[in-house]
Amino acid sequence: MSQSLVTVAYIAAAILFILSLGGLSNPESSRRGNLFGMIGMALAVLATVFGPRVGATGIAWIVGALVIGGGIGLYAAKIVKMTQMPELIALMHSLVGLAACIVGFASYVDTSIQLAGIEKTIHEVEIYIGILIGAITFSGSLIAFGKLNGKIGGKPMLLPARHWLNLVALLLVIWFGREFLAAPSVQAGMLPLIVMTVIALLLGVHMVMAIGGADMPVVVSMLNSYSGWAAAATGFMLGNDLLIVTGALVGSSGAILSYIMCQAMNRNFISVIAGGFGSGGGAPAKKGDAAEPQGEVVPVSSAETAEMLRDAKSVIIVPGYGMAVAQAQHTVYEITQTLRERGVQVRFGIHPVAGRMPGHMNVLLAEAKVPYDIVMEMEEINEDFPDTDVVMVIGANDIVNPSALEDPTSPIAGMPVLEVWKAKTSIVMKRSMASGYAGVDNPLFYKENNRMLFGDAKKMLDEVLVALKS
Ligand code: TAP
Repeated sequence: MSQSLVTVAYIAAAILFILSLGGLSNPESSRRGNLFGMIGMALAVLATVFGPRVGATGIAWIVGALVIGGGIGLYAAKIVKMTQMPELIALMHSLVGLAACIVGFASYVDTSIQLAGIEKTIHEVEIYIGILIGAITFSGSLIAFGKLNGKIGGKPMLLPARHWLNLVALLLVIWFGREFLAAPSVQAGMLPLIVMTVIALLLGVHMVMAIGGADMPVVVSMLNSYSGWAAAATGFMLGNDLLIVTGALVGSSGAILSYIMCQAMNRNFISVIAGGFGSGGGAPAKKGDAAEPQGEVVPVSSAETAEMLRDAKSVIIVPGYGMAVAQAQHTVYEITQTLRERGVQVRFGIHPVAGRMPGHMNVLLAEAKVPYDIVMEMEEINEDFPDTDVVMVIGANDIVNPSALEDPTSPIAGMPVLEVWKAKTSIVMKRSMASGYAGVDNPLFYKENNRMLFGDAKKMLDEVLVALKS
């Protein structure tokens, strides 16, 4: 394939990636967006493999790598549960970071690249920055992976003088960068490059460890952005235009997503990055820890729940992480249908950080074929709670926690939440009194107009459905 044909294919792939991002911005067009992305990626890979820069032996290596990597990817995608998706994504981000580091070191020792003067300096700056971003992304994503699957506690690790530590690390990176660029030979430049890589790895660990449980959504999207910039840096090192464009698209869309997440959680972006949010208020160290009881709760049965739903004129369903764990979305849909057939107005209230990844609830509800027009964003539905008869909270906790608004010392203080306690009755469906991801006790459970339906969401909803239909 000639270079000009490769360029045309790259432009087409870049356009498809932009269309893909556009499609993914809306649940209705997201499947199409995904398809555009897949076609774009296939085109990009084919044009690269059959392009003039890859020889016959190169093709054999690439095909081998594609078969092994593709096989692992296919297997991972098949066995991963929907609730483990964010962890898988964090792991994928770490691979992008690792790839940037490996490509960086490989281009540095590649003797076939003979550059001099300013071109050599530019190439070395690309390598240095590429490895820097790659290493931070790699270690940060691994820690995020640990935090998301619960192997590492959600409470932020706050080292004394942590901001100073970050600043010293940054200054060291700059100093070693100067040493690296001034090195007379590849051998001499290797030491500052390796030292910087170690510092960057530690920086990634420190940065994510310092972030509290409730702020993890921002970290996940921020690492997504970093992985994009790492890919763009790899593109610069390899002189591959499409990788630069794609990396920049991922980097900037991830940055926009992080900003949106911060707005949704009423957080200051810089403060989240600097770490330490989600640390106050004596939050338990690990997710799922039982919180201190604050009063009496009123348990209800599934039959009573069905009765309240049947008697209601308007119902709002608030799904959270527990609905995803229980895979209860299909039963939720059936209950919705049954209630709508009986003339009850049913709508869904979606918090922007419900679940464990952006759009988590929208994906599940779309999978269960819940009509889009009854799925409302938090801002759209919050003022309707006072006029609602019953709110059914399914496996959600932090996103309906009134202490975010009422207790300035709470680790989630200031985060906008779905104000479900303003409804005539709220029913919270969960297995126990355990806290949510942020490890904060929830005063909603003890409110007079709140009822608790204890049990696995799927099992309880199945019972509610049977009771509703009988
Ligand atoms: P959480 O606050 O984590 O609460 C989920 C609740 O579901 C838990 O309290 C748990 O209580 C219950 N649960 C678990 N399994 C269940 C099952 N099988 N059946 C019924 N209930 C079950 O979830 P949320 O309200 O959706 O809030 C999301 C949290 O995750 C926020 O703190 C957010 O910051 C964080 N987070 C979000 C993201 C993104 S991007 N969305 C990423 C990382 C972190 P029991 O154990 O008592 O059942």
